[in-house]
Amino acid sequence: MIKEEMKQYLVKEAFLARENSYAPYSRFKVGAAILTTDGRIFRGANIENASYGATICAERTAAVKAVSEGSKSFVAVAVVGAEENADLEHLDLAYPCGICRQVLREFLPPSGELLILVATSPTEYFESSLNALLPHSFGPEDLGYLLE
Ligand code: THU
Repeated sequence: MIKEEMKQYLVKEAFLARENSYAPYSRFKVGAAILTTDGRIFRGANIENASYGATICAERTAAVKAVSEGSKSFVAVAVVGAEENADLEHLDLAYPCGICRQVLREFLPPSGELLILVATSPTEYFESSLNALLPHSFGPEDLGYLLE
């Protein structure tokens, strides 16, 4: 169980991450914060590119930061996405895209439960789970034969 205080903290971290979004083309700024099993928090923002396809989403920025720093087990992810001039107190829900869902799927904790918090303000969020957003998913276990 993740405490309410930690959820609130993680959401605020996602808002801070969003401040570093580089989104001159879409002007849709996204921030994410990942809490790992070992108690670390990694922030990420979307980073766009003049060659649009080279853009990386906020969730994947945070995920690659975590994994490349040695944390490969995620317990919660907070996300906030909104047009750059949006009223941050009243946001629409911006769920992780399909590619990000699959990338997060790779780094589930032993429980298999990854909490997803989609913020609508710095103090309000909707709770979901990776399992709910990506049911019947394909993951490392499906390639277990490679490890035998
Ligand atoms: N974006 C994210 O950062 N995360 C998502 O889950 C959906 C989309 C970014 C990518 C692009 O920079 C902008 O939002 C508009 O698609």
